[in-house]
Amino acid sequence: MSHSYRDDQTLNASANPSFAEVLESRMSRRGLLKGAAAAAAVGSLPLAGCAASASRRDPAPGFAPVSISTADAVRVPQGYTAKVLYAWGDSVGHPSGSPAFRQDAANTAAEQALQAGMHHDGIHYFPLPYGSTSSNTGLLVMNHEYTDDGLLHSDGFADWSAEKVRKSQNAHGCSVVEVREKGGQWEVVRPSPFARRITAQTPMRVGGPAAGHALMKTAADATGMNVLGTFNNCAHGYTPWGTYLTCEENWDTYFINSGTLTDDHLRNGVSPKGRGYRWNEFDERFDAGKHPNEPNRHGWVVEFDPYNPQSQPVKRTALGRFSHEGAWPAKTADGRLVIYMGDDRVFEYIYKFVSRDRINSSDRNANASLLDHGTLYVAKFNDDGRGEWIPLVHGQGALTVANGFADQADVLVRTRAAADAAGATKMDRPEWIAVHPHTNEVYCTLTNNSQRGGKDRAGTDRANPRVNNVFGQIIRWRETGNDPAGLRFEWDLFAVAGDPQSTDAAQRGNIIGDAYGSPDGLWFDDSGLLWIQTDVSTSTLNKGAYERLGNNMMLAADVRSGLTKRFLTGPAGCEITGVVMTPDSRTMFVNIQHPGETSSERNDPKNPKVVSSWPDGAAGGRPRSATIVIRRDDGGLVGS
Ligand code: FEO
Ligand code: CA
Ligand code: CA
Ligand code: CA
Repeated sequence: MSHSYRDDQTLNASANPSFAEVLESRMSRRGLLKGAAAAAAVGSLPLAGCAASASRRDPAPGFAPVSISTADAVRVPQGYTAKVLYAWGDSVGHPSGSPAFRQDAANTAAEQALQAGMHHDGIHYFPLPYGSTSSNTGLLVMNHEYTDDGLLHSDGFADWSAEKVRKSQNAHGCSVVEVREKGGQWEVVRPSPFARRITAQTPMRVGGPAAGHALMKTAADATGMNVLGTFNNCAHGYTPWGTYLTCEENWDTYFINSGTLTDDHLRNGVSPKGRGYRWNEFDERFDAGKHPNEPNRHGWVVEFDPYNPQSQPVKRTALGRFSHEGAWPAKTADGRLVIYMGDDRVFEYIYKFVSRDRINSSDRNANASLLDHGTLYVAKFNDDGRGEWIPLVHGQGALTVANGFADQADVLVRTRAAADAAGATKMDRPEWIAVHPHTNEVYCTLTNNSQRGGKDRAGTDRANPRVNNVFGQIIRWRETGNDPAGLRFEWDLFAVAGDPQSTDAAQRGNIIGDAYGSPDGLWFDDSGLLWIQTDVSTSTLNKGAYERLGNNMMLAADVRSGLTKRFLTGPAGCEITGVVMTPDSRTMFVNIQHPGETSSERNDPKNPKVVSSWPDGAAGGRPRSATIVIRRDDGGLVGS
């Protein structure tokens, strides 16, 4: 969600003295990691339930790139077609009913609970049936990150009511939709026994070390075990046993505090007035002054089984509590699970969780509590190109009673404070993380940080080398022995984003090929081709440093050569969020989020069509976030 963390203040944009040196060293160090890319893979992880079927094609972008665009349309390369599959308000296909979307936004809260939520983000494809590699029938599972209440209700915030709060809550969470393909055409199956909406009111269980802890208990839940709902679900992950991981990002923005802010509220951004969702007016638990522990029950990774629509989602506290962007899996050499995670806020950290137990690949139910036991680590990137993972374990290092950490649950609830104490490296907003399917090299987008080097803010280091960093960078690392269990790594910057024509050295990047800024979504296809999605905030899109880069876009990069080509440009005012392909790599699903967003529009119902009427066109109504399907007209491998 870009609204709350838009960095509009202008800091002095002077070039960091070491920046040219950083660009140079990246060019020479690329050779080192190129060698690693050719090394044998250890424990590479196939998609859930699939063998990698198209994995040996050449991981180079084979299409003719599209040019930059400010059109209110999705543009893809010649020979490709993009179609809308599932937009905000479309029926999820639940057997209990399929209410039609109303362009005047007059759908009720109850109807919204049976329809696609707003603001599509992370997405994954699970083949049907479980364990198959089907590329023509499956479950699409996705996040609906947040609501724009100016668009969600016919009259926006006017006459704010319990019904409007409930509709907003029901437009959050996740969708599970069954999809199928015939003759190259995809459709949502309605009705489907798998269809499901998870919302900010869905009952969930708490798992892991913080389950039942005093910090998790509230007036409504004396057990500290049962939480209502998930919200601000940004990116995602999945497990080898076919479950989906949905990640709670800017959860703090939903709370107000009519009383006293605790240290933890302050550390996590809970503020007296909140950020305008106004849920607290009809759902008192969102007043952290009255319910100081309710915030502790959010900011987690939530696991659920899309193959079982009755299954209860579980908040996995062993994975820590922060602004979770996503949770991406890798497998250790000895068969345990690693989950890489970014905390998307300025000067926050990169984490990984390593499970205690091995994955059971023959009995998926045996993995039901695998994510409750393991070790959470935070990353330290040293200026010499090496790095280390620091364990966040109570009693180790600085995480002692003497330093104010009571026990392991306390360490996990206050993950950011624990990482501060551990001396981790403050990053430029870690967003998506992608693990190379053949080499286990890990790539992470650092989307931007205009506060870097600002007054009373951290200065630069080699991993975060620019003051007033408006364009961002992609960092990558190789764990010791290429084993994701490794506690040391080597790193470099894969790409420093920027405008190649900029006369300001701090805004020039080193991308080979098509330029971009503010990388956010990041995903490897089976071949090892890296897909990059951008989230330039609406307040800077097509202005200032971003004047020449058009609308938000998706690109593909060959990580061996660095060659990057622009594959897609989005409609006006959107960002490009999730991406995934079917196992045969012939269909790609991409999420288009917040088309039509303008700097002033949020919470303003006056004119929701200012810059976009995508995807329904001028005859339709409000712009709608949507999942699109992209295929090659000749049925070939997407991206090749
Ligand atoms: Fe929701 Fe960090 O993007
Ligand atoms: Ca966003
Ligand atoms: Ca994101
Ligand atoms: Ca973002």
